[in-house]
Amino acid sequence: MFINRIRADCFRNLEKVDVVLDKRLNVFSGQNAQGKTNLIEAVWLCTGAKSFRGGKDRDFIKIGERIAEINIDFSDKQRKQNITLSIDRNNIRDKLVTQNGVKLKAPSKLFGSLKCVVFTPDDLELAKGSPDNRRRFLDLSISQIKPGFAPVCAKYDAIITQRNTLIKNINMGFADVSELEVWDEQLAKLCAYISVLRYTYSKKLGEFAKRLYEAMTGGKEELTLSYSSTVYTNLEGRTDYSGEMADEYLELLKKNRKDDLRLGFTQAGTHRDDLITYVNGLSSREFCSQGQNRSVALVLKLAQAYILTEETEDSPVVLLDDVLSELDPLRQNFVLNSIDNMQVIITCCDINTIPKDKYSSVYTVSNGKISKINIQNEI
Ligand SMILES: Nc1ncnc2c1ncn2[C@@H]1O[C@H](COP(=O)(O)OP(=O)(O)OP(=O)(O)O)[C@@H](O)[C@H]1O
Ligand SMILES: [Mg+2]
Repeated sequence: MFINRIRADCFRNLEKVDVVLDKRLNVFSGQNAQGKTNLIEAVWLCTGAKSFRGGKDRDFIKIGERIAEINIDFSDKQRKQNITLSIDRNNIRDKLVTQNGVKLKAPSKLFGSLKCVVFTPDDLELAKGSPDNRRRFLDLSISQIKPGFAPVCAKYDAIITQRNTLIKNINMGFADVSELEVWDEQLAKLCAYISVLRYTYSKKLGEFAKRLYEAMTGGKEELTLSYSSTVYTNLEGRTDYSGEMADEYLELLKKNRKDDLRLGFTQAGTHRDDLITYVNGLSSREFCSQGQNRSVALVLKLAQAYILTEETEDSPVVLLDDVLSELDPLRQNFVLNSIDNMQVIITCCDINTIPKDKYSSVYTVSNGKISKINIQNEI
């Protein structure tokens, strides 16, 4: 899969951007605060996912302007496609989204069309940082392969929020304990289903990540992953998510009820699970150096791209936002070589940090404007 052309106007500081991309490595170079991450974010939003930056949707629109527009032409294995996204300050909730000229209900309906893997400096904390990031990483990775998974996760999260509110109301005497049952019944199947899918994905991720990490460290270190469930002791081979597995979670919720009420929240469930990474058998989060944890994070993201390629029989577009400068030359080369057969969009402050033989197109980003530069003359 590759992006042919990106147009963006009034998306954050971007101004009348219109760039035609090369099928291989595209480098966007510019000083700080010029609009490099904004460009990556604009592309990412066209995958149907939420921004990796957080923040309010209103901030997508350039200060002083009314409408932000993004327009992307891309090609997958079958055909050429077009996605447009338009966000109006006066109607932030109703974004105008079209795919191949057909209006879609919401940006999330784009999910599964344009497939990208994004890597930002924050992602370097994936292995070391909060479990929340790893859960989101798993859920997003699965949703890219199985678009129906994202709404399941959203529903689960909404019910957990409602259940936790109910727990607080029960504690204050505004609601009765028996009201928990309605939520628990709904939660049980969702939790079992999410557990099965996350476990299966983690297993596959582990296989790819192990191989990649071995190659990166020249066979000196071994990476293993395990999905740590707060509900099920063993998920291997389990598939009965609407039967036995759901009942098990219901039992656990009943058993935990007193403690949940005492603590004020739901303790067990997929919202509390984690993906644990081990290097040479030791939990990387607790024992590894910063550099090792960054390598683990890199490998997890690369594995995500590989799995996506295998499952969809088409490689994703890789978006690397200013991460190469954070890595030593060995790792930089490893990353670039690993994604050699995919289209890559890289941003950086200094073009010299990228090996010359690797890139095919270079653009400068300056004050929200982007122009292509002639590699022969300029570098
Ligand atoms: N809604 C908006 N309207 C106008 N400008 C905005 C808006 N949102 C963000 N910006 C500005 O866009 C500028 C560029 O942001 P961006 O994060 O893309 O920079 P960058 O080139 O990635 O820089 P760095 O190298 O520091 O990461 C920032 O100065 C920011 O203040
Ligand atoms: Mg940036």
